[in-house]
Amino acid sequence: NSTGRALWASRLGFILAAAGSAVGLGNIWKFPYIAGENGGGAFVLVYLVCIALVGLPIMMAEFMIGRHTRRDAVGAFIALEHRRSFWVVAGWTSITAAFIILSYYSVVAGWTLDYVYRALTSSFSGLPAAQIEGMFDGLIADGPRQILWHLLFITLCLGIVIGGVQRGIERWAKILMPVLLALLALLFVNGMLSNGAWEGINFMFRPDFHKLTPGAVLEAMGHAFFTLSLGMAAMITYGSYLNRNEDLLGSSLRIVLLDTVIALMAGLAIFPIVFSVGMEPAAGPGLIFKTIPVVFSQITGGAFLAILFFLLLAFAALTSAISLLEAQVSYLIDERGWGRKRATTFLAGLAFVVGLPTALSFNSLSEWTLIGDLTFFDSADLLTSNYLLPISGLLTAIYVGWFWSGTEEKQELIAGGAGWVYPLWHFLIRYVSPVAVAIVLFFKIRETGLFAWLTNLF
Ligand code: PHE
Ligand code: NA
Repeated sequence: NSTGRALWASRLGFILAAAGSAVGLGNIWKFPYIAGENGGGAFVLVYLVCIALVGLPIMMAEFMIGRHTRRDAVGAFIALEHRRSFWVVAGWTSITAAFIILSYYSVVAGWTLDYVYRALTSSFSGLPAAQIEGMFDGLIADGPRQILWHLLFITLCLGIVIGGVQRGIERWAKILMPVLLALLALLFVNGMLSNGAWEGINFMFRPDFHKLTPGAVLEAMGHAFFTLSLGMAAMITYGSYLNRNEDLLGSSLRIVLLDTVIALMAGLAIFPIVFSVGMEPAAGPGLIFKTIPVVFSQITGGAFLAILFFLLLAFAALTSAISLLEAQVSYLIDERGWGRKRATTFLAGLAFVVGLPTALSFNSLSEWTLIGDLTFFDSADLLTSNYLLPISGLLTAIYVGWFWSGTEEKQELIAGGAGWVYPLWHFLIRYVSPVAVAIVLFFKIRETGLFAWLTNLF
C-alpha cells in the first residue's frame, strides 16, 4: 500500500462492512412486502434474476472502479479519465444521492431508536391496538422528539466514521453485523414456530404468475438496485479500501447472498406473527411502526421480541447510514484535502440540518411541498430512489461497459483469481445492466409524472 491509503484489515471486515451497507430498511420493511404483493415465489424468482444480471455486475463494477483508482466516487472518474470529463457527472450524482438519502434516512432511523426506547420501557404492553397505532402518528407529528432521535442517530454515525476505515467502520461492522444476524435468527425461529408460519410462507413464496405484471418486474429491478446500495457512491468508496488481490467475484457473491438471505428471513420473521394474530400485512412504515407493535402487544414474549426487533432495525439502519457518510467524507478528504475529523463533523452536522425539514414535514411543514404536491420527505425519497440512483447506475454501467479499458478491467478480476468471469461480466455490464436500468428509469419518469411536472414548470 504505497499510497498510504487506509485499507480494510481483513476480508471478513470488508464483507461485513459492505453487507452492512446493503442490509438496511430495504430488506426488512420493503422487500418482504413487495414480494408478498407481487406474486410471491414468482416475484422472488424474477428478483433473483435481476440481482444476478443487473445488481451483481454493477456491484462488481463499483468495487473495481474504487479499487483501481483508490479515490472517492468523484475523484475515481477523474482518475479513470486522467482529466475532468463528462463522466464526473456519474460521481456527482451518486454523492449527491448519498447526501440527500443520509439526511432523511437518519430521521427514519431516529424513529427506530424511539421504538427501541418504547420497547425497552414496555410501552406497547396491554394497550388497545388503536392506541398503539396512534403512537406512530403522534411521533411523526412531534417535531422536537424526532429531531432529538435524529440528532442521536447522526451522532452515532459520526462517532463511528470519525474512527476511520479500520478502527471505525470495520470494527463496528464486525460487532453490529453478527448481532444483527443473531437477532434476526431468533425472530426467524420465533416466526417459524408461530401458528401463522404456514400462512406467512404462503404469502411470501406461493408463486402467482398472474400477479407478475410488467410493473412488478420493474419493481423487482428497481429494488435489486436499491437493496445493494448501488448508485450512491458507497460501494465505490468501500471498494477503494480493498486490497489489490482480493477476489472481487467471491466477495460480491457473499455480500449479495447475505443481503438476499436476510431479506427472505425478515419476511419469515414478520408475516407469520402478523397472520398469527389475524392481522393484514401493511406496507413500509405502517408495517413496522403500527402493525408490528400491535402484534407484539398480543403474542407471548412480545415485550421481549419487540426489543429484539427494533434493535435489529436500528443496527441495520446504522451500518447503512455510515456507508453514506463515509462516501461523502472520502470526497472531502481525497478531493479537498480535508482531515477526517473535520470532514466527518462537518458532513454529519450538515446531514442533521438538512434532515430537519424532513422531521418537520409531517407536521408544521406538511403544507410545504417541494415536487408537485409531495412533502419534503416524499420529494427527497422520490428524487433519489427514482432518479439519482438509476441515473448514476446507468452512467456507471455505460462507462464501464463501453469506455473503460478492457485491460484494466481484466487486471482487476485476474488479481483475485476471477479472470475467467471477465467475458460473462463484460457482456452483462455492456448490454444487460444498462438496458435494464434505462427501462426502469424511463418508466419511473413516466409514472411519477416528472414530464408533466417539467412541462408545467416552463
Ligand atoms: N441497501 C439499503 C437497504 O436495503 C439501502 C440504503 C443503503 C439506504 C444505504 C440508505 C443507505 O435498505
Ligand atoms: Na438491502
